[in-house]
Amino acid sequence: TIVHVILSGGVGSRLWPVSRKSMPKQYIPMFGDKSLFQMTAERNKNFVSQTLVVGNKDNYLLSQADMFRADIGHYEEIIEAAPRNTAAAIAFAAFAVAPDDVLLVTPSDHIITNEIAYARSISEAVRFASEGYLVTFGINPTKPETGYGYIEFEENSVRSFREKPDALTARFFMESGNFLWNSGMFCFQAGTYLEELNAFEPDIFQTSYEAYCNRRDSLLPDGLTMQIPSKSIDYAVMERSEKIKVVKADFGWSDLGSFESIWEHWETQGENHRFISNNCVVGSTKHVEFLGVDNVVLVETSDAILVLDKGSSQDVKKIYERLEKER
Ligand code: GDD
Ligand code: MG
Repeated sequence: TIVHVILSGGVGSRLWPVSRKSMPKQYIPMFGDKSLFQMTAERNKNFVSQTLVVGNKDNYLLSQADMFRADIGHYEEIIEAAPRNTAAAIAFAAFAVAPDDVLLVTPSDHIITNEIAYARSISEAVRFASEGYLVTFGINPTKPETGYGYIEFEENSVRSFREKPDALTARFFMESGNFLWNSGMFCFQAGTYLEELNAFEPDIFQTSYEAYCNRRDSLLPDGLTMQIPSKSIDYAVMERSEKIKVVKADFGWSDLGSFESIWEHWETQGENHRFISNNCVVGSTKHVEFLGVDNVVLVETSDAILVLDKGSSQDVKKIYERLEKER
């Protein structure tokens, strides 16, 4: 059995004010009339025989609405009491299925183009997964981005995995030509993942198992959840495991994490009407002019305006965090 696991945990704080706690970016129909979540569910439903959504108390109703729109009648859900990062979120999914079931784990907020190439990559990944490997999807890096994981590869073999290197290291990785970006999607048998998690992070394994066993309906308990160490799969397992393979992705990929990545996405899609001289407008329906500035992003929603230098895209998170604190 192949199971699609949709991770829906983030609030998309780097996309404030478009993305809000009450309406995170994966649920907003930002690109056309479908949300990224709905597109994720639709894109994968034909490769799998089951879908499992790992979300939380604040967003599961939004997930349900999008699953309905994606026309997925029956699916499982796991509702976290609080986000404890991806090592645990994926463990919950693995506990819910049989050890030899293959999990296709995807974020809910990525844009993927060229679905034929995507289908090819998935079937290659499922093959490796069935042989007991943890499969990553490698993207050709286009800049020394520090927010991603880097995969040192030779064909399908992985020599090393480095999550979020500093700027100097990222530049070195990129220029060496031996590294791919980690897309954040994974494919493996549930049992393979749990064995590796238990080997490297027995504490995460134990505490998340306890929380999972004490769930009510789909909801995980508050108290036990808070005992789970918060670590991503990348640091917890991928940087340490010897069982990793990589499938080179020749599909188009963007994680749309920041206004800079939206800018680049629109640029590659040829959406020229989004740009005024060398500035970008997100969301506004008003007449906008720019004078004497460039690399500026103007973002407008019904109740907020954000103006930023494209280079400051990663720091939008800080505004979100300050506003959260002041609330
Ligand atoms: N259910 C659940 N619970 N989902 C979660 C949780 C959680 O506690 N934490 C994160 N997620 C979901 C997010 O919503 C997102 O879809 C996905 O898991 C990845 O989490 P991010 O927080 O966005 O990770 P990242 O961007 O820092 O890094 C990952 O993705 C990069 C590519 O976008 C890593 O895998 C990197 O190696 C990778 O390059
Ligand atoms: Mg991300």
